[in-house]
Amino acid sequence: MATRKKKPKILVVHGPNLNLLGTRETDVYGTATLASIVTDLETLGVELGVEIESFQSNSEGEIVSAIQRARGEQDGILINPAAYTHTSVAIRDALLAFSGPIVEVHLSNIHRREEFRHRSLMADVAVGQVLGFGAASYVLGLRALAGVLASA
Ligand code: DQA
Repeated sequence: MATRKKKPKILVVHGPNLNLLGTRETDVYGTATLASIVTDLETLGVELGVEIESFQSNSEGEIVSAIQRARGEQDGILINPAAYTHTSVAIRDALLAFSGPIVEVHLSNIHRREEFRHRSLMADVAVGQVLGFGAASYVLGLRALAGVLASA
């Protein structure tokens, strides 16, 4: 009899101010709330056969600690580092210490915005990026990451 493979585990990390989604700069980020994004990812996780754990923090250190805790616990990370995308060597280093695949997502197309948003310190640590599709960036990112894990 074939042995059933263990469900891959994915940590979804939401950076600062993403707790305000739905009310924050809706012209840029859309009207979906963080709670609805988390629910949609959990539903999609069931379809894709992956286990989802979601984490949001406004604090750089807490995000670093969550990524450290994922070592040996989670198989992949889906992350929107929000403003820390452009500044955080600490989050980059934490991601470098994680051995599984990482997918970076953004609601907005950071390349169409202010110049300081064009650079991502996480870009080359990630397998790939999905950006510019609003809440759908997360959905596409989760599908991509689940695919990477399935073929690993
Ligand atoms: C963001 C883009 C960042 O530049 C910004 O600081 C955010 C959200 C996005 O999802 O589009 O907070 O990561």
